[in-house]
Amino acid sequence: MAQVCVVGAGYVGLTTASCLAQIGHTVIGIDVDSAKIEALNKGMIPIVEDGLESITQQMLATRRLTFQLGYSETISSCEFIFLCVPTPQDEDGSADLTYIREAAKSLSPYLASKSVIVNKSTVPVGSTLVVEEIVRRDDIFVVSNPEFLREGSAVHDFLHPDRIVVGSSNKQAAQRVADLYQSIDAPVIICDPASAETIKYAANAFLATKLSFANAIAALCEHVGANIDDVMEGIGQDKRIGNQFLKPGPGWGGSCFPKDTRALVKIAESAGYDFELLRGVIDFNEIQFDRIVNKVRNAVGGNLTGKQIAVLGLTFKAYTNDLRDSPALRIVEQLKLQGATINAYDPTVANPLPQTNFCATSIDACASADAILIATEWPEFALLNPTAIGKIVRSKHMIDARNILDADLWKSAGFTYQGVGR
Ligand SMILES: NC(=O)c1ccc[n+]([C@@H]2O[C@H](COP(=O)([O-])OP(=O)(O)OC[C@H]3O[C@@H](n4cnc5c(N)ncnc54)[C@H](O)[C@@H]3O)[C@@H](O)[C@H]2O)c1
Repeated sequence: MAQVCVVGAGYVGLTTASCLAQIGHTVIGIDVDSAKIEALNKGMIPIVEDGLESITQQMLATRRLTFQLGYSETISSCEFIFLCVPTPQDEDGSADLTYIREAAKSLSPYLASKSVIVNKSTVPVGSTLVVEEIVRRDDIFVVSNPEFLREGSAVHDFLHPDRIVVGSSNKQAAQRVADLYQSIDAPVIICDPASAETIKYAANAFLATKLSFANAIAALCEHVGANIDDVMEGIGQDKRIGNQFLKPGPGWGGSCFPKDTRALVKIAESAGYDFELLRGVIDFNEIQFDRIVNKVRNAVGGNLTGKQIAVLGLTFKAYTNDLRDSPALRIVEQLKLQGATINAYDPTVANPLPQTNFCATSIDACASADAILIATEWPEFALLNPTAIGKIVRSKHMIDARNILDADLWKSAGFTYQGVGR
């Protein structure tokens, strides 16, 4: 069992720290956010993530997991240092490596000889070299080990991954990192750093493309009178296609797909390749947001000015409290620009958004609404009673951007119903 340091205690870092402790390693989690470290040391986690709080509390109790604010001599006791800091989108669409550089610089003075820096953040091809150049020591290795977890099922995904990817120009360092995961049953792909870094971006780009394809087929279904649910089941049963990520929706978003697809276009551009296909996917996703806004506008008679829209769900998907690049927020923004008033509700979002009435329940949000938009697939929205909701709205229009409702039920309660491709 190894001594590990995890830098950055966000969605990826906290999951990594707690799960590595869970499989037997001794882990120090580091962050520069003092409020976060204070809360974590009390076993309180700032994110909604199934099972993460209890693992974190259990590991804190065993003392295999500790958290500390900032960098110190304790790092010198660690053989592995995982970087799990943000890599946000820069102004030109490329990945901003500021946090990676800062973390590498802060770590440098404390690194023990033969320790391995493991880059788990999503970083462009060549970032392993960026870290090596900052550290500038022959006795320290830098390895790429991209993370594929999904928010909402991060703990499960970390402990039961489809694969573990380790990229390094030093075979021994790569094997040492792979060995950390020995107790996890998953294929391990050991490759060069550029391939490891590319795998992560290619995976996200492919998933985003698959979602956009489902949205395009949904649009086609609306034109030809087909039903997207049946069509996707029909193609998803084909093992070459697979049935995941075929659900149409309001457009993809979240903390990864938008920035990672744009970053990959930039990576390609800097390498002299025009990634036309992916540029098309990104542009198409913008159109998908507009398609949902159009559905809402059409439902209320073609003009949103002065209309009150109930927006149910704000997070980019269910089972998370992450609002980063959420399609719901993009759509809310457009609805407001076109003159609508928004009454929003989300089960995990505590802070009101600017110029949006934030309601305590979905019923409150629907009161006096001219139309209701389901923007996130929280299961509780599928349980809403159309007859009861019909009595409190001003007009009965339902736009189900996640296809989670029984359309016939809502129609029989007098609602117009618009799904995506239904
Ligand atoms: N969120 C996901 O679903 C997901 C999945 C796979 C990969 N990734 C990648 O993992 C990386 C981290 O993403 P995230 O969602 O966990 O980010 P996050 O914003 O949730 O967490 C990042 C943490 O790093 C801390 N931090 C910032 N600078 C620091 C520094 N210099 N030293 C120590 N801590 C510092 C922040 O305070 C924050 O707590 C990104 O590259 C992202 O693309 C994210």
